[in-house]
Amino acid sequence: MSPNTTGANQALMDRDLKVLWHPCTQMKDHERLPLIPVKRGEGVWLEDFEGNRYIDAVSSWWVNLFGHSNPRINNALKEQVEKLEHVILAGFSHEPVVALSERLVAVTPPGLSRCFYADNGSSAIEVALKMSYHYWKNSGKPRKKNFVNLSNSYHGETLGALALGDVALYKDTYQPLLMDVITAPSPDAYNREPGESWEDYALRQFAAMEQILADQHEEICAVVVEPLIQCAGSMRMYHPIYLTKLREACDRYNVHLIADEIAVGFGRTGTLFACEQASITPDFMCLSKGLTAGYLPLSVVLTHDRMYDAFYDDYDTLKAFLHSHSYTGNPLGCAVALATLDIFRDDDVINRNKALSRHMADSVAHLQDHPNVGDIRQHGMTLAIELVKDRRTRAPFPWQERRGLRVYEHALTRQAMLRPLGNVVYFMPPYVITEEQISHLAQVASEGIELAVK
Ligand SMILES: Cc1ncc(COP(=O)(O)O)c(C=O)c1O
Repeated sequence: MSPNTTGANQALMDRDLKVLWHPCTQMKDHERLPLIPVKRGEGVWLEDFEGNRYIDAVSSWWVNLFGHSNPRINNALKEQVEKLEHVILAGFSHEPVVALSERLVAVTPPGLSRCFYADNGSSAIEVALKMSYHYWKNSGKPRKKNFVNLSNSYHGETLGALALGDVALYKDTYQPLLMDVITAPSPDAYNREPGESWEDYALRQFAAMEQILADQHEEICAVVVEPLIQCAGSMRMYHPIYLTKLREACDRYNVHLIADEIAVGFGRTGTLFACEQASITPDFMCLSKGLTAGYLPLSVVLTHDRMYDAFYDDYDTLKAFLHSHSYTGNPLGCAVALATLDIFRDDDVINRNKALSRHMADSVAHLQDHPNVGDIRQHGMTLAIELVKDRRTRAPFPWQERRGLRVYEHALTRQAMLRPLGNVVYFMPPYVITEEQISHLAQVASEGIELAVK
């Protein structure tokens, strides 16, 4: 329960529940669970209308990087809004979008040289899918029209992106509306045999992907992956060798590789981009979320010159990529994204995060042998704790019991917002978090787990 559900919070909650329909929510839950109306944010803290504060341990759905109401980003936004709030990006351009594209080309893996903008993560995935298919069509290979994904993957909620995902909770209901995809088994290390390394398991799982590509590459446009962490798929993680192997195989079989770094990009796995850990350049890199440090909706698909050249021709060849969104390349979002990249550069963020990642690991080490903890896994600034009914067999708690939700409810009484993924409790905090605040989250998570597994 929230520490305080009367007075000012209640008033806004009542108004909210009369007119809103919240995302990813069974609204009936709010007959019992209080909504938390947030009045202001500062750094890692969210504050409600009654002065209760909560550490935003999940960066508000993995978007916030440098804290709420960050003065440097606020200033960049204020400066930009005085100059230009928005302009159509077809036929017109503006300074922030050019500067941002130059900077993104410079910091992403070598070879990515062109930026195509959209305004949210799912839309970036749609762009990559359409562009890949269209590239093969423009290149005289119209038979290529299938996509390969990984089991347990997630790429967004619009129909194309949802089709590429494999999380039953979000997908099954809409299955009749979705295109068919080819699903390869995930390299998710949770499923490895006892004693098997993450790397060996990833290599073993790769055999099935290799087979799919060998058998069907003539009909396949692209393979789509979330590099290193399947975030919405319970923060399951895998070894970078899988990506290295996948890049080689995609080259061999003439298939595109789409790296969905919408959630993992901008430092979440310990490097600026997860693909760096496998030393690969994908054909498409999709970015959003941290792109604007959690401020504004913006996304971008980076690709290489070969892709761009396949669309570049006289208008009447009808090879152009005629895709658009109204807010594509919005100047406010671009100005904020530039300020975000400045902070990464000026504050040596990726190096500084190494100490925070170590502290995260140390602070939950005592849970390693807990009878209801099946796994603690981490890549950089993302750490997940999987609750199970029985540590030895890893039998899960029935999902209907919603054990993770109990941790969430406890955390609210202890100044923390620890929104779980099913029975997985995780930390993906803003990088301005301190070691003391991480220790507090670990303490709150431990208490919550004790209550949840009873
Ligand atoms: C890996 C990944 N891809 C795509 C998306 C979709 O992004 P959006 O919610 O902005 O549409 C998400 C969102 O969580 C994501 O985690």
